[in-house]
Amino acid sequence: MKKINIGIVGVGRMGSIHLENLVTKFTNARVLAISDTSPNVEALAEKYQVAKVYSQFESMIKDSEIDAVVICSPTDLHATHIIKAAKAGKHIFCEKPMDLSLETVKEVLEIVKIAGVKLFIAFNRRYDPNFQRVEKMVKGGKIGDPQIIKITSRDPGPPPLPYIKVSGGLFLDMAIHDFDMARFISGKEVVEVFSKGTVFIDKGIGDAGDIDTAATILTMEDNSMVIIDNSRKASYGYDQRIEVFGSKGMCGSENMLHDNHFHWDENGIHGALPMDFFMDRYLKSYYNEMDSFLNCLLNNTEPKPSGMDGLMSIAIGLAAKTSLQEGRTVKLSKLL
Ligand SMILES: NC(=O)c1ccc[n+]([C@@H]2O[C@H](COP(=O)([O-])OP(=O)(O)OC[C@H]3O[C@@H](n4cnc5c(N)ncnc54)[C@H](O)[C@@H]3O)[C@@H](O)[C@H]2O)c1
Repeated sequence: MKKINIGIVGVGRMGSIHLENLVTKFTNARVLAISDTSPNVEALAEKYQVAKVYSQFESMIKDSEIDAVVICSPTDLHATHIIKAAKAGKHIFCEKPMDLSLETVKEVLEIVKIAGVKLFIAFNRRYDPNFQRVEKMVKGGKIGDPQIIKITSRDPGPPPLPYIKVSGGLFLDMAIHDFDMARFISGKEVVEVFSKGTVFIDKGIGDAGDIDTAATILTMEDNSMVIIDNSRKASYGYDQRIEVFGSKGMCGSENMLHDNHFHWDENGIHGALPMDFFMDRYLKSYYNEMDSFLNCLLNNTEPKPSGMDGLMSIAIGLAAKTSLQEGRTVKLSKLL
């Protein structure tokens, strides 16, 4: 079987996860090159026996042996990297979000279409087995017509300020996963967005023009509602829960804990904390999404999540930002 030759750009937190998965778990792909501006890239190449290291992304995509690129560079470089990769004829797996401007995203999608390459947007949570089960139950009518979806999405701690500054802020960096999840679980489009937000955790985040705590209500095309709460710091770990309430019942997914022991005593009932963060909680989903991307290339099928899914989530994130700034409900159709 043909192996797909991959080049990864940006081997920080996220790129390292994809690098490790690709090298250790896939037989239908090979990481031929990695590209990063950090000197640490050499040590990673040695650890994972990656043949080629490029300090410049532009040099990596000139490598005719590379079939596809995995883009895990900082958010403000994604659009540039997608455009350059597409023009070089490489298929693309890109971390969320594609960009922070809808105009740029539309341009990017046009260039990708003209280049005829595949673009997979890495909303990994669609590939989490728990959320997939919930989506199947909803789609299969197990709870009747969904009326209220509740998504709790709280990180164990905020990322460093330099990351925050180029991330697009809480709505476009963090809640964007939840906006995509709302569309995935319900199978419906968002029509209106109302958000509130504040700074409870780190004044530095406020000084950088961002928030660390938010609540959002999405109104979907069938009038059902999605209620999302986000915090950059939950003292007890990574809090990732979903509940779907419908006309015939309710379904959902609870937190994954470090283990499932229990301990009852006179002070109460105790157990393990939720898993630490995305690196452990969503490990299976990172494998599954990469598997899906590689299968798209091998079987010539359409990537899911697509570039259009990427665009919709950014539109919802921008609507949430406007809602917070202007204290009003924002119609998505005004942005698209
Ligand atoms: N899907 C998820 O669960 C998830 C989780 C975390 C981050 N992300 C996304 O992944 C992206 C990267 O986030 P991260 O947390 O890994 O950040 P990070 O800062 O840990 O890693 C970014 C890497 O890119 C490198 N880099 C910077 N400029 C570069 C350039 N010009 N060329 C090549 N490499 C360059 C940096 O040296 C660093 O190693 C972000 O867009 C973020 O939104 C997704």
